[in-house]
Amino acid sequence: MEGYLYRDVNKVTTNILQRMRNENEKIAMLTAYDYSLAKLLDMAKIDVILVGDSAANVMAGHKTTLPITLDEMIYHASSVVRAVERALVVVDMPFGTYQGNSKEALHSAIRIMKESGADAVKLEGGEEVHESIERILCAGIPVMGHLGLTPQSINKFGTYAVRATEEEEAEKLLHNALLLEKYGCFSIVLEKIPADVAKKVTESVSVPTIGIGAGSATSGQVLVLHDMLGITRQFSPRFLRRYHNLSEEIIRAVGNYIEDVKNVDFPNEKEQY
Ligand code: KIV
Repeated sequence: MEGYLYRDVNKVTTNILQRMRNENEKIAMLTAYDYSLAKLLDMAKIDVILVGDSAANVMAGHKTTLPITLDEMIYHASSVVRAVERALVVVDMPFGTYQGNSKEALHSAIRIMKESGADAVKLEGGEEVHESIERILCAGIPVMGHLGLTPQSINKFGTYAVRATEEEEAEKLLHNALLLEKYGCFSIVLEKIPADVAKKVTESVSVPTIGIGAGSATSGQVLVLHDMLGITRQFSPRFLRRYHNLSEEIIRAVGNYIEDVKNVDFPNEKEQY
């Protein structure tokens, strides 16, 4: 496929992502939280798997991403890492494990890397978390930034609405993106911001940007797996393209199973010993 240069690499690294960005090959990233689905994503040759703290929502049923713990993230990340050969695996640092205390941030990042075997961590924010980012980077751990709508700050924002629609906030976001690049982040997620703001940021930094609800100019795209597969049903923001309607298929399959059990149609003679 034209513009699909890195499909056959054995392992996607942060260097490969930079080369993709430089050579205008878009980066495809999805979330995963468990072994079985991560294996399928890797077989499909996804470039980056994000073990997102959205696990708090889609795996655990919490309303926000705040409750998920470091131990829980490490559990999800280890399951994903065991499945993956090719994709770069990035793990979200959960709320409360890096803000405010850079020593604790380093300790949390080291735990993620040592105990899960992941390739990199992601954390939300710009200037306000610079000490944590710099300390983690000093330990040789690659860091992905995250700006725009940062769900761990939902209690400050009070809404999941589009960010950076006003010039002042857009300028601040650009300033933070330039800082993240300067600190040494290998990539920056831009969540739910106007497409023209994401384009300006993407053109202003030399590292890859990965958008979610940020238009098509970013160096790559990310979606939450359960949303794009249609496993989740209520969440329907404008930016979400559903590639499947798995919830209906699962409900239909489970309904068929229930019927077969009730009618003693399952198991049949070939399905027993
Ligand atoms: O946790 C997550 O899934 C994320 C993506 C939405 C970027 O941070």
